[in-house]
Amino acid sequence: MSGPGVSLEVVDLAKSWGAVDVLQDVNFGIEPGGFLTLLGPSGCGKSTILRLVSGLDEVSGGQILIGGKDVARIPAAERNIGMVFQNYALFPHMTIAENITYGLNVRKVPKAEKEKALARVAELMALGKLLDRKPSQLSGGQQQRVALARVLVSDRPLVLMDEPLSNLDAKLRVEIRSEIRSLNKKLGITVVYVTHDQSEALSMSDRVVLMNAGNVSQVGTPQELYDRPANTFAAAFIGTPPMNLLSPEDVRAPATFAPEGGMEARDVIFGVRPESLSLGRAGAEFSATARVESLEYEGKVFLVHLIAPSGTRFIAAHSGDGAPEEGSEVTVGWSASQTHLFSKTDGNRRDFTL
Ligand SMILES: Nc1ncnc2c1ncn2[C@@H]1O[C@H](COP(=O)(O)OP(=O)(O)O)[C@@H](O)[C@H]1O
Ligand SMILES: [Mg+2]
Repeated sequence: MSGPGVSLEVVDLAKSWGAVDVLQDVNFGIEPGGFLTLLGPSGCGKSTILRLVSGLDEVSGGQILIGGKDVARIPAAERNIGMVFQNYALFPHMTIAENITYGLNVRKVPKAEKEKALARVAELMALGKLLDRKPSQLSGGQQQRVALARVLVSDRPLVLMDEPLSNLDAKLRVEIRSEIRSLNKKLGITVVYVTHDQSEALSMSDRVVLMNAGNVSQVGTPQELYDRPANTFAAAFIGTPPMNLLSPEDVRAPATFAPEGGMEARDVIFGVRPESLSLGRAGAEFSATARVESLEYEGKVFLVHLIAPSGTRFIAAHSGDGAPEEGSEVTVGWSASQTHLFSKTDGNRRDFTL
């Protein structure tokens, strides 16, 4: 069974295919037993990082430190890493028990030890009653639990998971998400998890690495990414719906407002989360006037789709009574502490004074 996890640190990792750089200067780390998520849109390099860490592909540059030891140039088989893929092919002609212990057979683990490991992992993953079945007799969620069990039984201190839930329906995803998280905490194994779904990343992780086109955009705890996005990419990627980005001509700011770092007020982008906007809040520190384009009912809140005079579209999440009428003009207000500021030139976060 899995012992305590190991630390992982990736230093200046780079990968090119011929002349094409797919990863540059990737740096992040996670302590033993931690849960780290690689998050980003499709094609940003998440799977490539997992393939480099596991040894399926060769690095073009940089180091991969597992428990402090650089494994970037040693064979995959010597890295002692478990991996769960999106397409977790189970062997259709084998029983669930045979599928789970397949790797142990290959490694010629003695029978008694194998059966003990199987019993324990079957109990952990609630698969005890299903061990004699074939994969086709299991639901999608059960099959995915078998794929996880197959990795857990192999006693690896570091497990990599590449979008393991994306074939499951929404309800099952939420269920297995919390199972994976509690396994990580219960067993103390280190997990590196890949997803393009920011809500999955925020809900599961100790630490998130947000990737943008082969580069690290921001590394931090889920709260840090939500509360202080480092740039407009992070701002527009995190949150449901994500942060609104407004140009200075659409925003009424206090007369004393001044961006730091010698930036002109016209060179900024204002960021404000939909849940920070209050409708008709006269006297708020910051405000914007806009036309209501449409309303979206979300159960707990109305998402009010707005269009500013400049043509910029943005969203207010309205939770009080009385949603505004479509086509009407509204003023939305927010406070200085809810204001995020970015440079129009490089997209990076800036401070401001009032
Ligand atoms: N074997 C390969 N040869 C050339 N380009 C590749 C190869 N594998 C991946 N890529 C490119 O690397 C980039 C990152 O891919 P990938 O890591 O799979 O992204 P993600 O998992 O974030 O969706 C993509 O642009 C992809 O086309
Ligand atoms: Mg991928």
